[in-house]
Amino acid sequence: MSSISAEGLTKQFSNEARPAVDGVSFAVEPGEFVVLLGPSGCGKTTLLKMLNRLYEPTAGRLLVDGVEARSMPATQLRRRIGYAIQQTGLFPHLRVEQNIAVVPRLLSWERPRIEARIDELLDLVGLPREFRRRYPRQLSGGQQQRVGLARALAADPAIMLMDEPFGALDAITRARLQDELLSIQRKLHKTIIFVTHDIEEALGLADRIMVMNEGRIVQVDTPLAILTRPGDRFVEQLTGADDVLRHLSLMPVAAALGSARPSAIAPSVAQPPLRPQDDLRFALTQILGSGAASLPVVDDGYEIGRLTLADLCAILPPTAVVRETPAPAPAA
Ligand SMILES: Nc1ncnc2c1ncn2[C@@H]1O[C@H](COP(=O)(O)OP(=O)(O)O)[C@@H](O)[C@H]1O
Ligand SMILES: [Mg+2]
Repeated sequence: MSSISAEGLTKQFSNEARPAVDGVSFAVEPGEFVVLLGPSGCGKTTLLKMLNRLYEPTAGRLLVDGVEARSMPATQLRRRIGYAIQQTGLFPHLRVEQNIAVVPRLLSWERPRIEARIDELLDLVGLPREFRRRYPRQLSGGQQQRVGLARALAADPAIMLMDEPFGALDAITRARLQDELLSIQRKLHKTIIFVTHDIEEALGLADRIMVMNEGRIVQVDTPLAILTRPGDRFVEQLTGADDVLRHLSLMPVAAALGSARPSAIAPSVAQPPLRPQDDLRFALTQILGSGAASLPVVDDGYEIGRLTLADLCAILPPTAVVRETPAPAPAA
């Protein structure tokens, strides 16, 4: 496992008025899954490309395991970093197996080791081994992304950089790949920096979210803290804090329960209970529909707490509950 950190990382393109990335500092711990979240054009791809030195920074330092990246050859650095992108970057004229083997070949692995690794990776990303002989165009978008992921993992890099890897997929395929990425991460414990502009994707995947706007990182926090304690107006807008229902739909029931401990009491069967993974918008509808003051939350047959309307209000950021009244329009 590897750490990766940046100090004042800046990229100024020569033809641009202001830096694409502007004095960015952060530290990602070994084994951490960090999501870089921000709107299109805010500098996410530029930052990621500096992390594997596809771009050299104009200013600032990049440290991998505490060692300055500048002091090692770029190719050596890139071998420790897997890189997956939205367009997959698969070579169209190479078969799946050849695409996956690109980095192991560069590293001069023995043939049997490469062969075994291809099978292992296809299993890991959930593709049938028969797909080895196919070309990328003979695969669906989701299957191509799986190959892209397998290729990025091929030489077992400690760090994975992923630039909107699921951005082009339909919602169902995307959700499935997100789940599988999480299950792969539970097995492999990579240090991951995953770029997206999609708040829901960020909340579902991240240990921590780094929110980026106009070349700067404006907040780094856990998903729950980003939702409940947005650092500024920009983060509020990003998380839909103005829209209470949307905001609730982004959070699970478990987040509003706090530190409730499981009780041994079996739930009453009269009301359909809530599950910890249900979203809070659904929970609100259930509470209002039931006419009860609270509903039990049940996990694996045990009641782990009760959710009230007050719990729901307590978890909303203050701005979502107390809205400023717009100033009246001046009389004509
Ligand atoms: N190679 C480049 N040359 C000049 N400007 C660039 C280059 N790459 C990106 N930019 C500019 O830098 C800004 C950030 O782009 P990018 O990092 O691709 O944003 P994001 O990935 O968040 O959408 C944009 O204004 C973009 O036009
Ligand atoms: Mg981008």
